[in-house]
Amino acid sequence: MKLVTCGLPYANGKAHVGHLRTYVPADVYVRYLRMAGEEVVFVCGSDCHGTPIVVNAEQQGLKPKQLVDIYHEHFIKIFNALNIKFDFYGRTDSDYHHHRTTEIVKRLIEKGYIYPKEIQLAYCPKCQRFLPDRYVEGICPYCGAVARGDECDQGCGRHLEPGEIKEPRCKICGSKAEFRSQKHYFFKLTEFKDFLERFLENLKGTENALNYARNWVKNLRDWCITRNLEWGVKFPGEENLVVYVWVDAPIGYISFTEKACEMKGCDWKKIWIDGEAEIVHFIGLDIVYHHCIFWPAMLKGADYALPSSVVASGMVKVEGKTFSKSRGYVVWVEEDYLKSGLSPDYLRYYIVNYTSHQKDLNFSWEVFKEKVNNEVIATLGNFLYRVLLFAWKNFGEVKMDGVDEEVLQKIKETEQKILSALEEWEFKMASDAFMELATYGNVYFQNAKPWGLIKTDKEAARKAVASCLQLAKALIIFTYPVMPSSMEGMAKAIGLNLEKAKLSDAYAVDEVMKLSKPEVPFTKIEDETIERLQKIMEKRFKGEGDEEKAEEKEVISIEDFQKLDIRIGKVLKAEKIKKSKKLIKLIIDIGGEQRQIVSGIAEDYTPEELEGKLVVVLANLKPAKFMGVESRGMILAAEKDGKAVLLVPEKEVEPGTRVC
Ligand code: MSP
Ligand code: ZN
Repeated sequence: MKLVTCGLPYANGKAHVGHLRTYVPADVYVRYLRMAGEEVVFVCGSDCHGTPIVVNAEQQGLKPKQLVDIYHEHFIKIFNALNIKFDFYGRTDSDYHHHRTTEIVKRLIEKGYIYPKEIQLAYCPKCQRFLPDRYVEGICPYCGAVARGDECDQGCGRHLEPGEIKEPRCKICGSKAEFRSQKHYFFKLTEFKDFLERFLENLKGTENALNYARNWVKNLRDWCITRNLEWGVKFPGEENLVVYVWVDAPIGYISFTEKACEMKGCDWKKIWIDGEAEIVHFIGLDIVYHHCIFWPAMLKGADYALPSSVVASGMVKVEGKTFSKSRGYVVWVEEDYLKSGLSPDYLRYYIVNYTSHQKDLNFSWEVFKEKVNNEVIATLGNFLYRVLLFAWKNFGEVKMDGVDEEVLQKIKETEQKILSALEEWEFKMASDAFMELATYGNVYFQNAKPWGLIKTDKEAARKAVASCLQLAKALIIFTYPVMPSSMEGMAKAIGLNLEKAKLSDAYAVDEVMKLSKPEVPFTKIEDETIERLQKIMEKRFKGEGDEEKAEEKEVISIEDFQKLDIRIGKVLKAEKIKKSKKLIKLIIDIGGEQRQIVSGIAEDYTPEELEGKLVVVLANLKPAKFMGVESRGMILAAEKDGKAVLLVPEKEVEPGTRVC
């Protein structure tokens, strides 16, 4: 038996294509396993705790639960629309989940793996509270980038422990925070070093995850597992502390298994206590640390069974750019994709087939159109429709004896390719295998020419059609896990019940095949649809997302304005960025510091014009990378007829002079 889980989405925002990188391949994997005869339990649920949710709810004037309710329902809707079918989809703010988390934390306390310690924490004197995780922003002590309390997500990507962040500021009111001492609880992660080293040697999964983890395990620190929040699972015996979200979230894998087993009639203890099932975690590359270090140590400490595989997908990029909701490099599953009436199967195919599971996946509307029109429609759809229509029109039902041995051989080879691809978590290889079979089918049909044979030798035509129908049946079965809704339609035309179908049915030859009129399996993607979607995307890139909204910006206080560090700078060096039309790299003296800033003005200013110029610089903008080049700030410009016009001081002033 296998238990397959997916990283729990934060119930804190809408589903985007990045999320699907984890969920679609996991669903495909589970469907293939079941068709290969394996018993599988497949669980996931909403991650409802943590400071992002609390901060977001506070900013929207909602209670955390109200916010979570909205996005929990949203994710359920998206998973249904995309045919991602969990046996159970739970939520971590439910009683059964709190119960399981408390039980595990108590056991860790009993076994001496948790200890209290006084630490210095960021505290906001104005809001009069401690600032956990996302409540605080400051500077990463490792790389100097702007970071949040628990993660350096713009810089080195490190997990930050409470109190580590430098120059902390309160995210809510913007005040400078101070450090105050308070008692928190720590998990003795360092005691698990030997265990983790051995565990990681045997852990299966994708090399990317394993390599990172084997490196990290060399440098462990004890892990602070409590936070000053009301929303979350209470730490036993401490009314004002909850456990850190990364303690309770993975425990969802257990509590949701309990629920799934209640419904399916299996025994969750066999899976999570006796270790009788293989436990496979599907996650994205951004949360490997939590799954390969924290999580197995907790499980070991509390005497639970350990995962056997961690399968980490590469991250999603959008039109070649690093995924970023704030910068508009995002594709929303509902409002962009589903509302355009595009088939869920196309997106499932794209995600699975674009590249190897471990590599970064680039989502591009142009490539999407090409893959769908040329591969799904022109290769697979073409074969299925041509064969099924021809057979139905000319025969109605077909005696199946005499199916070409070579055809059966090809089908068996395809099954083998799929099964060995799954063992290596290579979903692209699995889907390439059925596409190759479709190509083979097209050539076979073309060479056999049953439309000519039928006039001269009806029996020879029947045999050719029988071989093609066998190929069609195999293709429907092999494609079903990736494109379930389209294949259900196709299966009807040959009277096949896909719910019960096994992979081996692909080469089982029926006595007769009774046909009904096939539906057209796929609709072509029109250029206009893609152009419209590309336009939406471009608007977001340029930050013009919503033009009306741009007009009526909210009124801000002088304190808000003073958060901006605007200064006069002098351009020391300017240099075009290779392979980019618009971008130029500037080195700017902002008063005692030379700053590198990337600006999109290369089409409007030459490097020579810029060098020596005084400009206006926004100096405390979050650092970002453009075409791999770091930019730490922005120079201000107005726009005229689509061209940038730089703002400059009216008289000569010293670089570094404040603008206020
Ligand atoms: N709540 C945590 C996971 C807790 S698991 C015990 C979380 N949530 S998330 O909403 O940010 O992400 C949910 C899943 O989607 C994670 O597996 C994450 O790795 C994956 N992805 C989210 N954005 C992604 C990309 N842009 N690209 C690829 N996968 C990413 O993390
Ligand atoms: Zn950092």
